[in-house]
Amino acid sequence: MTELLSIILAAGEGTRMRSATPKVLHPVGGLPVVSHVVRTVQAFGAQIAVVVGPNHEAVEAAVTEIAPGAAISRQEQRLGTGHAVLQAKPSYAAAPGHILVLYADTPLVTAATITEIATRLDAGADMVVVGFRPGDPTGYGRLLTENGRVVAIREHKDATEAERTIGLCNSGIIGFRGDTLRAVIDRIDNKNAKGEYYLTDAVELASADGRRIDYIEADANELIGVDDRTKLAQAEATFQELRRSDFMKAGVTLKDPKSVWFSYDTQIARDVTIEPNVVFGPGVVIEEGAVIHAFSHIEGAHVGRNASVGPFARLRPEANLGEGAKIGNFVEIKKAEIGKGAKVSHLTYIGDATIGADVNIGAGVITVNYDGYNKHRTVVGDGAFIGSNAALVAPVSVGAGALVASGSVITEDVEADALALGRARQVNKPGRAKEIFAAAKARKQAKKGN
Ligand code: UD1
Repeated sequence: MTELLSIILAAGEGTRMRSATPKVLHPVGGLPVVSHVVRTVQAFGAQIAVVVGPNHEAVEAAVTEIAPGAAISRQEQRLGTGHAVLQAKPSYAAAPGHILVLYADTPLVTAATITEIATRLDAGADMVVVGFRPGDPTGYGRLLTENGRVVAIREHKDATEAERTIGLCNSGIIGFRGDTLRAVIDRIDNKNAKGEYYLTDAVELASADGRRIDYIEADANELIGVDDRTKLAQAEATFQELRRSDFMKAGVTLKDPKSVWFSYDTQIARDVTIEPNVVFGPGVVIEEGAVIHAFSHIEGAHVGRNASVGPFARLRPEANLGEGAKIGNFVEIKKAEIGKGAKVSHLTYIGDATIGADVNIGAGVITVNYDGYNKHRTVVGDGAFIGSNAALVAPVSVGAGALVASGSVITEDVEADALALGRARQVNKPGRAKEIFAAAKARKQAKKGN
């Protein structure tokens, strides 16, 4: 495939989002919208140029985080899509191959669509416009076609009544042979209803030069532009549908697909079962055979083979569960290794810890990891047994095979195979309960008498 330069336009103001955050930084599947577009074109080894607006340092930072080599240019005044592309001149002036213009607010564009554009350009088209048929075409540019080629794109505001009846619209994604873009871009003017430099005028100019402009049609869901909260929710819904379907095709059982939410980078092996109402934040890897029970929230965590999580479990970043480990209900794990076969079954917080293989953590155990200023680690050796309701006050370690008595507050290290008791000794006073109750009853009766 010929070399590709992708110019991503991100300078729009996004006023309809009504947000302090630039619209292209709103997340879909846990990843900013613009980053989806960057990742998709990265898969083609494309050179990337992004045009950002003034005060869009955060957009620039999001792009360079995942594409450090991207060329960033700034469009100081928002004078239209043609003007935005002009800002990337240092990139396109020297581009050896094809040039693809995409919008940063169109996160779901697929590799298949980009492949189709590149294939057509390789096969002799000078430009390829990606069209779609939205439910309501109002506001979009319409594709004017003759004999299967595009001869112009007419913006809604400039269109005649007859042109407005055309349902085939411009998605904004346009591929150019490099020489075609360079031949027309400087000739675009702003003599139109909006007084903007329309990139779409490139079509009419190139057509008049006798160049061949193809179009392809893609699904409206794929080309949704996220410019308000409703479209953001629609894009999220489509994204989730796609991921659910991908995972089921890859051998993952989803008991109630529509109630499971994934992130852009969720990795799940085959034969994993996921019960209803599970949320995967970014950075999760689940290995083969694991079961995620209902109502669990998992983020930045690694779940080993055949491990079991939940119901109602929370795995936070850097939770790392070994093979066959079991995390039960109302358990929270953060930045902790849970060894192979270890069990943390009920009502527990394990943070900043290393828990060995086959350890049993009783109900209500807490690793006391924070002193108000610093975090400290707890280490529990293989096969140890931590009794219910124990507090392990870090930094502290419990040796392999040790037994911590229920209700203990452990502040000193416990050696291997030792029994640790960190609680007051029990005292039983025969008959004393009866005396206490009798006295209490007498006080109550005395009050009634008054
Ligand atoms: C544009 C197209 C229209 C198409 C529609 C699809 C033009 C003239 N019109 O409409 O044919 O149907 O998209 O959504 O191209 N942007 C900049 N700088 C600017 C203007 C826009 O970077 O000066 C960026 C925006 O951030 C956005 C994209 O270009 O990512 C599209 O801008 P928007 O205003 O949403 O589209 P329209 O111009 O209305």
